[in-house]
Parts: sequence; C-alpha cells; structure tokens
Amino acid sequence: HGHPANFSGKFYQVTHYGVDEKTEQIDYDALQRQAEEVRPVMITAGASAYPRIIDFPRLRQIADSVGAVLFIDMAHIAGLVAGGQHPSPIPHAQFVTTTTHKSLRGPRGGIVLCEEKFAKQIDSTLFPGVQGGPLMHVIAAKAVCFHEALQPQFREYQRQVVTNAKALAAGLAKHGYRIVSGGTDNHLMLVDLRPKEINGKEAQEVLDRAGITVNKNAIPFDTYPIFKPGGIRVGTPAVTTRGMKEEEMLEVADLIAEALSNRNDTDALARVRGKVRELTRRFPVPI
Ligand SMILES: Cc1ncc(COP(=O)(O)O)c(C=O)c1O
Repeated sequence: HGHPANFSGKFYQVTHYGVDEKTEQIDYDALQRQAEEVRPVMITAGASAYPRIIDFPRLRQIADSVGAVLFIDMAHIAGLVAGGQHPSPIPHAQFVTTTTHKSLRGPRGGIVLCEEKFAKQIDSTLFPGVQGGPLMHVIAAKAVCFHEALQPQFREYQRQVVTNAKALAAGLAKHGYRIVSGGTDNHLMLVDLRPKEINGKEAQEVLDRAGITVNKNAIPFDTYPIFKPGGIRVGTPAVTTRGMKEEEMLEVADLIAEALSNRNDTDALARVRGKVRELTRRFPVPI
C-alpha cells in the first residue's frame, strides 16, 4: 500500500508505519503518535507477511482520535476471519477489502465492504468509474467460495491452518531457525535466515529444487539487500487443504532444514525431493 510504483503511492500522499524493532509487531503507541503528527485522512492496515493478530479496535480508536477513517485490507487473513480464527475488522473499519483467492480459497477476484452510507459512492466509483461489464463467471465462483466458507468444515479447516502454522514454526525453531516475532497467530510465518548465513533468494531456489515452495521475503529491519533478503515466508493453507496435520508439519520442517543444510549437495537435495514426493503422494490434492 502506498508504494511509489503503485497507483496508491502515485495518487495519494502516503506515510508509512512499521513494527517495533524488538517485538517485530505493530507498535500501536508509535502509530498513535505518528497519526497525531501526520493527521491523515485515512489510516490503512493489512499485510502480506505479518504473522500476528491485528488489533482492529485499537486502530479504529487511533483513527477516530485524529478524525481519520479506517480502511482494512484483509486479503491475507479473510479465510481466517470467515472461519473465526482471526478477529473481524467489521464493524471497526469503515472500509474493508479482500481478495477472494488467498486464505478464503476462492477464485481470483476481490470484494469491497463498507458502511452503508458509503455504498452508493463505492458502487459508482467502481461502475462507471473504473470497470465496465461484470465478470459473471467470477461472480458465480465467488458465490461457491462464500458457500464453502459458510460450511462447518471451513471453520475446522481454518482452525487446522493456524494449528499447522504453529507446529511448523515450532519445528523450524527446533532446527535453530529464528521465527520473526517469535511465532505466529495466523496462516504464515517469516523465517530469519541470517543467523544461518543464507539469503531468502538462495533458500527459495534450493527449496524449489527439493519440491518445496516458499518465497523470499524481507524481514523487519532487514540488513540484507532487497533482491536477496534475509528471510522466507512460509504458509500452511495449501498443505492443510491436502489434509496434513501437526505431525506432517514437523516432517515438513525436517525436510526444509535438511534441504537448506545440504544446499550445495545435489544428491542430498534429490533425496529430499524424493521424500517430498512420498509425503505429497500420501496427501493428494482433493478434487
Ligand atoms: C494484503 C494484500 N492485499 C492485496 C493483495 C493483492 O492481491 P492480488 O495481486 O493477487 O490481487 C495482496 C497480494 O499479495 C496482499 O498481500
């Protein structure tokens, strides 16, 4: 949000806030002070690599105190919110957006939710403002997604996503990996690879060769360059969909550690790849 390469950073004057250096979590007191200084029209929150619960009531309180509105992009955590595993931003934020294709496990697309008094303005900004005809096939797929999210099994799935993330984080920590902020409350974790003297790009490529998909990711106050950042981001929604549980998460942690510590050994990586194949065969993609 607000990056100079993105329209949000080109059209609007954006001031960023971050996490506390020690806790690696949002520093709400610092945000309050910053809001008092900047006096923003809108405060926004939402992230693609934040492993902790976001305090929506506190954000609303900060926004109200400076006369700003609150906009939450819950794209990453929408499935957890629908499944009761993360507090909902509603009714705290005046505006909430989400994509439908992340933890909500639906089609590529998005939705905008808002307080009723803004609905007409949002609708007409969308059409005729920026969009032409509706994509009925995507709308139909969103309806299926919402139906699935309303089922009791979806709640259970999201509960397992979070349980699995905690188990995977603990498994990686057991192998000496530093988990940013000390753990996770949601579906993902950030792993600081710097103590092991590996960068995220190398780790991503090595794990790819072993059949494990993660992505390189900068970590808070990263000291490594942006294209070879100090961390990786690991998430559990996909493996949980395949039916894996805590026991398998510990296996995955072992496989990640085995691959990374043998990163220059082609035969060792092939052996890990074989184990990954054996594990994924036991948990086929549901169809
Ligand atoms: C928090 C958040 N919002 C929105 C998006 C946009 O998603 P997409 O580009 O897939 O539509 C992303 C993508 O990673 C995201 O992390």
